[in-house]
Amino acid sequence: MKKIGVLTSGGDAPGMNAAIRAIVRTSLNNNIEIIGFRNGYEGLIDNDYVVFDRRLVGNIIQKGGSILHTSRSSRFVNKKYRLIAEKNLRALDVDGLVIIGGEGSTKGATALSKISKTKCVVIPATIDKDMPLVGPTIGFDTAINTALSAIDKIRDTATTSNVTHIVEVMGRNCGWLGILAGIGAGAEVTIIPEVKIDIAKLSKKIKSQLDRGKKGCIIILAEGGFSKGGSSLAGALKKKGDLDLRITTLGHMQRGGNPSALDRVLATELGVHAVNALKSGLSKIIIAKPFDCVEKIGFDKIINKKVKVDMYLHDLIENTA
Ligand code: F6P
Repeated sequence: MKKIGVLTSGGDAPGMNAAIRAIVRTSLNNNIEIIGFRNGYEGLIDNDYVVFDRRLVGNIIQKGGSILHTSRSSRFVNKKYRLIAEKNLRALDVDGLVIIGGEGSTKGATALSKISKTKCVVIPATIDKDMPLVGPTIGFDTAINTALSAIDKIRDTATTSNVTHIVEVMGRNCGWLGILAGIGAGAEVTIIPEVKIDIAKLSKKIKSQLDRGKKGCIIILAEGGFSKGGSSLAGALKKKGDLDLRITTLGHMQRGGNPSALDRVLATELGVHAVNALKSGLSKIIIAKPFDCVEKIGFDKIINKKVKVDMYLHDLIENTA
C-alpha cells in the first residue's frame, strides 16, 4: 500500500472531518501517500483531489461538515462515469480508497470495486443510522443531541402555553433518530416509518394526556413516518378533535454542528482501522463498531438489506409517557 485516497459521500455527517484526520495521519505515519478527492464520487470522475500533509488536517477534529465536501453523485450511478473514475485511480496509482458515507455510498463502492483494482473500504457515516449490521454510524450521536437541544426548548414553550407540538426529525425511511430523540425528549408519542399509526387512537391518547393535567405534549414525527409530513399529520389530528397544534421541522440543522465526543472517538477509531485494513490487503469491507470491538463486514452482507430499529426502545417511549 503506497497511496491511499479518501472521500466523503452522500449526506454530510458531523465527525467526517475527524475520520479524514485519522486516515490522513495514520497513512502518513505509515509512509503512505494520502490524497483526498473533493465532492465525493464526483471528485473521482473529475480527477479533483488534494495531496494531504499533516497540517492540512490540523484543527478539524472538532468541526462539523467535511473539508472534502460531499455529493450524491448521479453520474457515478452510470457505468460510463465509473469507468472514468477507475481510469483516474489507475493513472494516480491509488492502491486503496476509503469511502466515508452511508448506504448509497456503499453501493457506489461496491460497483466501483467490481471494475477497479483499487481496494475499497467504507466507514459508515450518516445521521440516519440506516445501515444494517454496522451499529452506530458517524454523526448519529451528534444529530440526536442537536435534535434534543432543540426539542427541549420546544418543550419549555409547549408546557408554558399548554400547546401540543409536532416536531419533525430527519432519518429518511428509518426511525432510529426518531426513537432516540423520542426517548431523550420524554416525548408523549413518537411516530416512525416502521410502525403504522391509527390517527383516531393517537388523537385519543393525546387528549387523555391533556385531560389528566399534562400541559402540552410533544409528538416526534420521524421523516417517512406520516405520508405527507407534519402539516398533514396536524390536519388529520385536527379532524379527529379539537387540538391546539404547532409544527416544527428541525431539518438540516441536525446535520451540522461540532461532533460529539462519541462521534469524534468513533470516527478516529474507524479511520485508523480503515488504513490498517487496507495495509493488510483487505477490500470490499465496511469498518464498523456494532458492539464493543471494531469489525469488518463484507459489502455483500449489507447491500440491499434493510436496517432494523429496536422496537424495545420504541416501546420505552409508550411506557414512560
Ligand atoms: O441521509 C441524511 C439525510 O439528512 C436524511 O435524513 C434526509 O432524508 C436527507 O439526508 C436529506 O437529503 P438532502 O440534504 O440531499 O436534501
